[in-house]
Amino acid sequence: MTVCRDCCCGSRTKHPAVDHDAQLGDLRAALEPDHRVRTSLCLDVCSQSNVMVVQPSPAARRQGARPVWFGLVLDDAVVDDLVAWIRAGGPGVAGLPAVLELSVVAPPA
Ligand code: FES
Repeated sequence: MTVCRDCCCGSRTKHPAVDHDAQLGDLRAALEPDHRVRTSLCLDVCSQSNVMVVQPSPAARRQGARPVWFGLVLDDAVVDDLVAWIRAGGPGVAGLPAVLELSVVAPPA
């Protein structure tokens, strides 16, 4: 998965109530080494920060699965739901839980 960390995502100024380092650390602790967690520069949807993108596995991608973008990931419960979904297989493999559908955002045009 890709965790945006730039001008808005990960910003204590913009989201002072969120421990962004802990959020990233929790994701890495929960998912690696089975799933790579990388950070990126601004993904151009700052109004939705914190933004995270879950990529399908190579096999799922060959079957047509596409990355799923999530926005406003500011709550530990959403992070936990993302981890569970990724562990279950993620895009193209595991159905997206209804609670996570609420956090899906459109990628930039
Ligand atoms: S900093 Fe994450 S979308 Fe801009």
